[in-house]
Amino acid sequence: MNKKTLPSMVILISGNGSNLQSIINWVQQYNVATIDAVISNKVNALGLSRAKNANIQTEILEMIPGQSRVEYDEDLSDIIERYQPDLIVLAGFMRILSELFVEKYLGKLINIHPALLPKFKGLNTHQRAIDAKQKEHGASVHFVTPEMDEGPNIIQAKVSVLLDDCAEKLADRVLQQEHLIYPIAIQWCLQQKIRFMDGKVFYNNQPLLQPICYDPVIHRL
Ligand code: GRF
Repeated sequence: MNKKTLPSMVILISGNGSNLQSIINWVQQYNVATIDAVISNKVNALGLSRAKNANIQTEILEMIPGQSRVEYDEDLSDIIERYQPDLIVLAGFMRILSELFVEKYLGKLINIHPALLPKFKGLNTHQRAIDAKQKEHGASVHFVTPEMDEGPNIIQAKVSVLLDDCAEKLADRVLQQEHLIYPIAIQWCLQQKIRFMDGKVFYNNQPLLQPICYDPVIHRL
């Protein structure tokens, strides 16, 4: 891969890294982007092994006791700056980011959330969707803005909530969809097919008024 000609990203994780794996698979298959580094805030994150297996540079940045959120995010930014990525991809990074950090990378920072935002921000989304008797649930890729899980959506994938669903079964089906939509959203961002400017999302230079609903027939890599 030629680092100079391909758009690049860094990926931030905290745990399993199954989304990371789907992005690695996409990069390896299509060779249209590079993952310059995987940064974890947890030393034992399984995703670090996935990165190492794919010969991707890994960085660990654990929080030092007593460190403020802003101080941690400054250290995080220092690491990111070494790579000068085109895109910063949050893939199960379980930290709230400071406003300063988010503002610095506005438009270059995306996240995947296991719910159809704006529904079910925060944690335990699958159980909350079941408890709320939702017929549909799913996943959203969105630009990150200072308010948690508030940034504008790019693409969403929906799954039906079944009568006998438990949170684990529903989570599995949603995660499968996450693995499909995250590489698509990343490709769009890196190609600048989708852009976030002045608080608005543009898709093919037209304002995107609602998230794109993932359709496996239309949205292929
Ligand atoms: C995913 O469900 C993602 O939506 C959420 O955290 C989970 C990460 O899973 N933000 P994995 O580490 O990618 O397997």
